[in-house]
Amino acid sequence: MAGRISQSTLDKIRVASDIIEVIGGYFPLKKAGGNYVALCPFHNEKSPSFNVNPQRQIYHCFGCNAGGDVFKFLQEYEHLEFVEAVRRLAERAGIVFEFEQNPQAEKTRNQKNRLLHVHAELAKRWHDVLINEDIGQPARDYLKSRSISRESAELFQLGFSPESWEDTVNWARAKGFDLGLMEESGLVANRDGKRYGRFRGRLMFPINDEQGRVIGFSGRVLDAEVKAAKYVNSPETVLFHKSRVFYGLDKARREILDAKSALVCEGQLDTMACYMAGLKNVVAPQGTALTAEHARILKRYTSEVVLCFDSDTAGQEAAVRSFDSLLESELAVRVMKVPAPHDPDSYIREQGVDAFRELMDKAPGFFDFYLSHLLGEHNVQQERGQREVIRAMGLAVRKTKDAVLLDGCAQQTALAVGASAESVRVEFQRITVPKPANARPTSTSETGPVVQTEPPSQQERWLLRLAFYDQAFSDWTADCLDLRWVKHPQVRAILERAAQTGASVEILVNDLDADSSRLLTAVLAEASEIPDPSRQLKDLVTRMRDQYLDLKLAALTRLMAQPNLPEEELMRTLEEQRELQGQKHELLPLVPAP
Ligand code: CTP
Ligand code: MN
Repeated sequence: MAGRISQSTLDKIRVASDIIEVIGGYFPLKKAGGNYVALCPFHNEKSPSFNVNPQRQIYHCFGCNAGGDVFKFLQEYEHLEFVEAVRRLAERAGIVFEFEQNPQAEKTRNQKNRLLHVHAELAKRWHDVLINEDIGQPARDYLKSRSISRESAELFQLGFSPESWEDTVNWARAKGFDLGLMEESGLVANRDGKRYGRFRGRLMFPINDEQGRVIGFSGRVLDAEVKAAKYVNSPETVLFHKSRVFYGLDKARREILDAKSALVCEGQLDTMACYMAGLKNVVAPQGTALTAEHARILKRYTSEVVLCFDSDTAGQEAAVRSFDSLLESELAVRVMKVPAPHDPDSYIREQGVDAFRELMDKAPGFFDFYLSHLLGEHNVQQERGQREVIRAMGLAVRKTKDAVLLDGCAQQTALAVGASAESVRVEFQRITVPKPANARPTSTSETGPVVQTEPPSQQERWLLRLAFYDQAFSDWTADCLDLRWVKHPQVRAILERAAQTGASVEILVNDLDADSSRLLTAVLAEASEIPDPSRQLKDLVTRMRDQYLDLKLAALTRLMAQPNLPEEELMRTLEEQRELQGQKHELLPLVPAP
């Protein structure tokens, strides 16, 4: 990600993004006492446990424990990276998004913006050619021949690039776009100093990022007889990385979340056909196998993927090659097959969407599909073929780290190749799974080992509430509370961080590890009145101190009860005992009134 966002920019954006307004813009919030409540968007529920606290500017769901500040909400609700969430809120508030003293990042960002602008403008222009201009007629005829409706062409902003080497270059000149920039965009090529448009005489599919901004194009020839490649795509640019882009994802995002499943086809026309037929949770990696990046993107939205690749060999091979990434990311995969020679687009057109939906609903799980695929490739009458099938199945199932699945899979494989289930299981166990080269640490290893802890005591929850009651209370706690008095590790972590940085709640909720942050939002979202908070804080901290001292004293008593305790040791222990007893009688300073 380019650069760091400066703290002052973050603060500005935060101040301009009232959490009630932002969340209230997504769904209605109801006032309830000092808080606002709603049905939680992050889990299913019948009565509202989702609380938004306007004073604290935080939200917390007491049902599923989701919680955070306004940035966190956008991240979770819109499935965005932090920087992207900040950018959205900045845009909403009309604040210029500044990066911290990083001229390089600034330059890249400006260049990206210029490239985005070029893409947006060219998409508009090609769309206009397709819909309105005379030279667009052959493309309009083509749409008709493929039963692509006007509505669909509008929605996906299809276009037509005129059959001319100079057209794009001339258009850029007329619009005042720098030709160097045009080359960087990949839309104009340069051979021996001669510039020409990359896309000529093609039906143009703009490729969007997740926010619906055009970042590249794919262009199809109109005439299948022409020798040129059927599809020409944008090259890799600052904006466009084919291995990380799904065609259609900007439109399918919410649908995938709602359907809890993503339908993955091969190409643009399949995606459009499914979408227009009402299967809107559809995306396409555009003719390639899914990469690990693709799998990671899908994983942000869903845990189930239905692959629907073409019935031809290339399609089936691409499906098989996609599995590694999908299984490693622990997505559940089903594979649907449209009968040859169809692809989803032609099948829906000829057989209707209901027939397609039926194929989708009864699509087998990946391992069933893969087993039959392997049986088609190897002769299991021979020992060699049998071994190959067992090995391939074992390798695949081991990638999922799912023991139950492994068992079932061993049985099926055994049945299919004519071996005993036990021997196949043993073979499966013997296989070592190679580590993927680009493996990323999982989220648990990023945040360190997860230690299951007891929830904090009622007393410690009160301590958190009171410590953040207002700034003076936080200062007092930082000065007077000895962190050894706090038992719960997360409560301690929160208070320690607050004391070290003097940071406000808003900053802390982003700074802390996920569990501590959730604990903090949970405690702070409790909106009940606190009577006489100054006295309560002082009493509470005194009580915690005394409990700590009592434990220490009890340990000393046990020590002194030991027979044969050397004289010297005994004296030291007595000294320590007096010291601790003295501490117990010290009065803590008064907490300033709020
Ligand atoms: N593709 C590509 N380059 C090619 C061929 C295909 O990028 N030379 C990608 C395109 O994204 C295309 C997808 O692979 O949409 C699937 O290819 P194919 O099945 O050949 O095209 P269809 O989308 O089915 O197009 P059509 O129905 O016109 O054959
Ligand atoms: Mn196809």
